[in-house]
Amino acid sequence: MTERRHLISIDDLSDDQLRWLVQRGAEYSRGSAGADQPLSGAVVGVLFRKTSTRTRTAFSAGALRLGAGLITYGPNDLQLATGESVEDTGAVLSGMLDVLVARTVGPESELRAYAAQKRMSVINAMSAVEHPTQALADLTTILRHFGRVEGVRVLYVGEGNNTASALTLALSRYPGAELHLRTPAEYGVEQRYLDQAAVSARRSGARVEQRHDVSDLPAVDVVYTTRWQTTGSTKPTPDWRTEFAPFQVNEALMAACPGAVFMHDLPAHRGEEVTGAVLDGPDSIAFAQAENKYHSARAVLEWCATDRPSGGAGL
Ligand code: CP
Repeated sequence: MTERRHLISIDDLSDDQLRWLVQRGAEYSRGSAGADQPLSGAVVGVLFRKTSTRTRTAFSAGALRLGAGLITYGPNDLQLATGESVEDTGAVLSGMLDVLVARTVGPESELRAYAAQKRMSVINAMSAVEHPTQALADLTTILRHFGRVEGVRVLYVGEGNNTASALTLALSRYPGAELHLRTPAEYGVEQRYLDQAAVSARRSGARVEQRHDVSDLPAVDVVYTTRWQTTGSTKPTPDWRTEFAPFQVNEALMAACPGAVFMHDLPAHRGEEVTGAVLDGPDSIAFAQAENKYHSARAVLEWCATDRPSGGAGL
């Protein structure tokens, strides 16, 4: 049997694969992707060990719309909850499923263990360190809104979390793109992602920089933030809210970025990382961005389960 494709990190993708996934997501978003069902006859497993509204629904609806059958697992449904190993779980599921979409509680090692077989694709639906399918949906949103990703300038304000890490890896691949990260000092994007982005940026001509204040903001096309407590997680520093307060995206911050649209991966806490006036205001494209999770999920499923655009595994 031919080896399957996995999507565990943006770093696993070639530049061409990244571009195809973003472009294909935009085609699904525009309704120009065609009406065939490339996953017809496939079975997709959806395992979420943490809460989710968008990602879980996007991949479930996407799999069904592309013709696949679907099995969903909550956090305590598999024998993982009683101590069966991740390796054994992956080996068993790979004999029954074509694709496993998984949100983990820890780092990517759990997903890499599921992927240590050649029969079932594994898709990272968010790990503690990276949220690659969010970045794909984000770039699809940027492509839909601006008609290009190249040269688009993004100001990311808030925690350097798994969404920010994936965005850093992805945007640094696009010529002329800029990512200005403004994060609280103890909550920045990890250096290893900045280092990898620097390698990509040298090749592509993109620019990625991180600072820990919100003074002197650059001219940008997009202001982006995320919830301060991703899937309800807590923070190590007791006074973290004081550290985060200057990083709220509010009317004053948006006024300092004239012409910029606002993006948010959602869920949002109005009054914390963003004010209601910004999230629900005329410059916000956050809910179109959320819908693009579904369009982008179909592109990811198609890429994993077929040989499109070429050279991968067929069902
Ligand atoms: N943005 C995102 O991943 O949303 P969910 O946690 O609802 O899937």
